[in-house]
Amino acid sequence: MKICFKILALCCAVTMTMTMMTVAFAAAPKGEIKVGAVFPMTGPSATFGQESVNGIKMGLATINKAGIKGQALKVIFEDDKGEPVEAANAVRKLINIDKVVTLLGSVASSNTLAAAPIAQEAKIPLITPASTNEKVTMAGDYISRTCFTDDFQGVVMAKFAFESLKKTRAAIIVDNSSDYSKGLSKVFREKFTALGGTIVGKSEYAYQQKDTDFRSLLQKIKRENPDVIWLPGYYTEAGLILKQAREMGMNLPFLGGDGWDSATLQKLAGPEGIKGNYISSHFSSEDKDPMVQNFVKEYTKLYKQAPGAMAALGYDVIFVLADALKRAKTFGPEDIKMAINSTTNFQGITGNITIDKNRNAQKSAVVLETTANGFAFKQKVAP
Ligand code: PHE
Repeated sequence: MKICFKILALCCAVTMTMTMMTVAFAAAPKGEIKVGAVFPMTGPSATFGQESVNGIKMGLATINKAGIKGQALKVIFEDDKGEPVEAANAVRKLINIDKVVTLLGSVASSNTLAAAPIAQEAKIPLITPASTNEKVTMAGDYISRTCFTDDFQGVVMAKFAFESLKKTRAAIIVDNSSDYSKGLSKVFREKFTALGGTIVGKSEYAYQQKDTDFRSLLQKIKRENPDVIWLPGYYTEAGLILKQAREMGMNLPFLGGDGWDSATLQKLAGPEGIKGNYISSHFSSEDKDPMVQNFVKEYTKLYKQAPGAMAALGYDVIFVLADALKRAKTFGPEDIKMAINSTTNFQGITGNITIDKNRNAQKSAVVLETTANGFAFKQKVAP
């Protein structure tokens, strides 16, 4: 009997709180579309998150001047610290507590791979501006991306090594804690050997994120006498590898993917380490396109630093979402998903965005040379 009372009292309390919440909700000003954004704001890939958020906020300011069908776009940011578990938790919180209708993020593929099945299961659309691993969008129809994939990026760099640099003996260094790195290592190996090149030594030399001493690994590679090194990692480790390699007298070019695209790379690699390496990425701040130049100018004015790839990708993804919301029948997740997935010919800073039937974007990549002053434009490669 006593317990019954307790339960009754509890029920009353819950009902009252819920009623109060409903009243409070109804009284609040109408017209906010809530979107969640999960990015690494701290940790070893922090510049990716910081740039993404800068780009998104810059875009939001423009979008919210006019609003979308009378509603403002509200983005709730969460830090995934560059960790898959954190990314998954952040997505759960945004879906269950904040009740967002769409998610943006994350950057490193392993983190988006951890988050995507949760969004898919909850039927909340998730757009990643940056995760290039093939598997990311395979989580289901609610998961899409506004960037190219590693099947493309890896081929671009294998061809660049063999055809443009005329290299024939590559060594591969893989970050074994990253799905992105493992995927790119495989794509490069297949394409480079298909073109007629050789992979020297072990099929790949492995390290883990947060490693800081790469000398013994580099020593082993040096003995195999490669003429180029494929290093599809992130800037924190790649920068240190470049520095240590040059100190060991390894003056051959290192090639990377978009994971190197951070101003911190220059700082870590130092003036010798940075020279004469190449990466593929999503955008070049040296692109003459007036739309790109205008973006570079505005961004630099606002944040006192030049935008990297993630800034441009973040800026584009918020506009792609705004465009989809304008076309969506309602602001319900199902309608938003359909609008996102039918995005066609959207003109972004990072190129022309069409979401294809596998919910990937077929876009051009750029090849950039790493220099002490930043990333210098080399070539643009169409899909
Ligand atoms: N493509 C990388 C990944 O999937 C992330 C990245 C994108 C990093 C763009 C920098 C710039 O892990």
